[in-house]
Amino acid sequence: MNAIVQNLPELPLSKRLKAGTTRDHDSVDNLVMGSRPFESNERYAYFLRLQHRFHGVINWLYQDAELNQLLPGLQELPRFEAVCADLVDLGLPVPTEPQPVRPSSPCAALGWLYCAEGSNLGAAFLFKQTQKIGLDGEKGARHLAAHPDGRALHWRQFVTLLDGLDLTDTQRDEAIQGALDAFDFYRATLREIFPA
Ligand code: HEM
Repeated sequence: MNAIVQNLPELPLSKRLKAGTTRDHDSVDNLVMGSRPFESNERYAYFLRLQHRFHGVINWLYQDAELNQLLPGLQELPRFEAVCADLVDLGLPVPTEPQPVRPSSPCAALGWLYCAEGSNLGAAFLFKQTQKIGLDGEKGARHLAAHPDGRALHWRQFVTLLDGLDLTDTQRDEAIQGALDAFDFYRATLREIFPA
């Protein structure tokens, strides 16, 4: 646990998650941009495979009854099917659904979901980049498109639900560890999928 997070136990969970993962976020952001996913359709195909793996391993969490009780409306948010549709749009093979990740507890799962839902914010920038290679919310970049109600509204609702949970300090730490594990997974998968 890093010092910033330990020293600010009174912060709402969403702020603790952000403080605890900012460094990881920035490294993933740099890795993604460094892998030039929007340079060509060929490189975008690697990115879609990465997104397929990431959204695939967490897809089941969105249907989990306990998590839906903690976060009502969760089942409406997964983007895995949209990633599959993007692959089909581009005439790419859809890999088999990856083995689900098994976070160590429901609170750790909240951290994975924080990572995935937050990635929707940065997706605004990525979505614009896909236009350079002729893609949009109806072809190839469906999973990066904003919800008709806007990205900010959904994110604010998600954060409000997270911050309304009555968790112990240990459970909050589990959530932060879950988010760190999700960023680690994303980083490792990116390195595996993109050619060196
Ligand atoms: C080139 C790639 C990326 C860029 C440029 C980027 C950019 C951003 C930006 C600008 C925000 C803040 C938006 C706002 O506050 O309105 C953000 C938030 C966030 N992004 Fe990314 N992002 C990238 C990739 C990712 C990836 C791959 C993940 C997860 C696997 C991710 C997870 C998050 C999370 C969790 C937040 C919410 C932070 C918070 O608590 O406020 N991002 N991103």
